[in-house]
Amino acid sequence: MNQPVMEGLRLNVPAYVKHQQLITWVAEIAALTQARDVYWCDGSQAEYDRLCAQLVAAGTFKKLNPALRPNSFLACSDPSDVARVEDRTYICSAKKEDAGPTNNWMAPADMRELLQTGQKDGTPALFKGAMKGRTLYVVPFSMGPIGSPIAHIGVELSDSPYVAVNMRTMTRMGKAVLDVLGSDGVFVPCVHTVGAPLEAGQTDVKWPCNQTKYIVHYPETREIWSYGSGYGGNALLGKKCFALRIASTMGRDQGWLAEHMLILGVTSPERKKYHFAAAFPSACGKTNFSMLIPPAAFDGWKVTTIGDDIAWIKPAADGRLYAINPEAGYFGVAPGTNTLTNFNCMASLNKDVIFTNVALTDEGDVWWEGMTDTPPAHLIDWQGKDWTPAIAKETGAKAAHPNARFTVSAINNPALDAEWDNPAGVPIDAFIFGGRRSTTVPLVTEARNWVEGVYMAATMGSETTAAAAGQQGVVRRDPFAMLPFMGYNMADYFQHWLDMGKKLAALCATSGAKLPQIYCVNWFRKGADGKFVWPGYGENMRVLKWMLDRVEGSGQGEEHAFGVTPRYQDINWTGLNFTQEQFNITTHIDKAAWTTEMKLHDELFQQLAYHLPAELPATKAMIETRLAAE
Ligand code: GTP
Ligand code: SPV
Ligand code: MN
Repeated sequence: MNQPVMEGLRLNVPAYVKHQQLITWVAEIAALTQARDVYWCDGSQAEYDRLCAQLVAAGTFKKLNPALRPNSFLACSDPSDVARVEDRTYICSAKKEDAGPTNNWMAPADMRELLQTGQKDGTPALFKGAMKGRTLYVVPFSMGPIGSPIAHIGVELSDSPYVAVNMRTMTRMGKAVLDVLGSDGVFVPCVHTVGAPLEAGQTDVKWPCNQTKYIVHYPETREIWSYGSGYGGNALLGKKCFALRIASTMGRDQGWLAEHMLILGVTSPERKKYHFAAAFPSACGKTNFSMLIPPAAFDGWKVTTIGDDIAWIKPAADGRLYAINPEAGYFGVAPGTNTLTNFNCMASLNKDVIFTNVALTDEGDVWWEGMTDTPPAHLIDWQGKDWTPAIAKETGAKAAHPNARFTVSAINNPALDAEWDNPAGVPIDAFIFGGRRSTTVPLVTEARNWVEGVYMAATMGSETTAAAAGQQGVVRRDPFAMLPFMGYNMADYFQHWLDMGKKLAALCATSGAKLPQIYCVNWFRKGADGKFVWPGYGENMRVLKWMLDRVEGSGQGEEHAFGVTPRYQDINWTGLNFTQEQFNITTHIDKAAWTTEMKLHDELFQQLAYHLPAELPATKAMIETRLAAE
């Protein structure tokens, strides 16, 4: 293979790379960004170890005590770069209405001028020279099993070795992907820079980034351009940018769904297996739910993880939906995780982990709020400062950032489902949509039909969390837990879900299969004391079991304005001291609160009036009539 030489920069193309268009594109980006050199990731363990050692030498990584946390590292980010930046995230479709009112939009030509081609008041476009003094890493990755018909390939060009090593854990990454790509395979080009060029002789910082940030998607040309951040979903472009924003537009065009959902398997003592896909907004319980350990009363029941964050779901000729997890690892929330509430997750973190923004113990291990009841006597907090319980009491300083995360391979999870990387996916029996609501929303409600389920999902509200920059704890509508991850117009997406229901119903009519049931849950309702009433975590199995009973046709419940909710006696309480009174608090439907809530649904529908499917306001009217009569 010829090796184009750009302004003295060798592209270092390995002999196994056969894709001329890929090589040309790498050359273009290297020239645009003026990267110092180019490195093609092969995805090997040796390469991972080498890059981690390099990150240690650069001060980005601290190697943890190998006796306590083998082959694991801690990275602490710049305090300004700790979460996804939703207000800097753009969907640059040709037409503004295709991005819709819930997304930031700029005309593609204007955005390209800003990022790639322009010059404004003497300041060049942001990507021009952005990688000066840095290595450009070519990161080929597959979302879904390599070579499988449901997988899609991306190539991320990034000047962050932190991104390269995280992508190796989060995706199937490396040479094998380029082998599948061959000489003319299709890939989604993803360009990422931390936006911190180094002049000759300038020493680097531990976490380079830029105050200016742009997370940009061009849905028509299926491209991603990310500038200025090295953190999570802003920088690991296979995850939210590709597997949700770009994939949702692919799904719209090709008749499938890309969803912010965990996928779990539940096996009964009789070895009957069911699959649930569940959407919760960021930091609202997906990873925990996907690794749930049933309480002792559910002897013989087992929950297994297929995915913890993203599902790609396709209809089959039998009228069923089959879901795969396009990822290969977990980028999970650390704070709140402990052996009591999520044993499987803690076991996953025993070795081979990259921790970001947690605290460091004096023994060279990690700690975060909620890991143990009693914090260690001394820590180095995520910002590198001394931390003691006394300091925390006085200043409120957190040892770990609330959005501190771990990056770990799915194969570390002891509850990993045997089918987790089956290219055929698993058949979905039910969908769950859950928000974080301290008031109003009951523990669980079953939709009476697909349209009502779509209505529930579309109008879901949730309190904002630390997973995104901005104010926390504010209730906002987060349709399908997809508000920050939609690649096209939200109203068109509702229509896509309604169309999917019609298509499935037609197929089911011949195959005899059943449409998945749709549920809405809320683990987060609080009592007068300001504490969560519902114990959550493993105890969520009790609610899961009720849903299963409903799927099987044996479960009982009470019908109300919004659907069907279990009565106290419809749930198995063995081994848990949870009174009828407590249950009433979690399930109570307060008429006044719901009247206010319906106004918020109305506001959403007004915002999405363009292309809003008529079924949704019609469902709303039906619910309001029922509510008024109750
Ligand atoms: P993303 O990775 O941001 O998409 O988050 P996620 O939806 O996977 O959320 P995760 O499971 O990591 O949980 C986020 C926070 O909510 C953690 O602090 C958990 O401890 C807490 N949490 C999860 N499940 C429950 C639950 O059932 N009850 C309560 N009270 N808290 C929960
Ligand atoms: C989320 O915010 O939903 C996450 C973390 O899963 S991030 O990868 O940063 O988007
Ligand atoms: Mn997520």
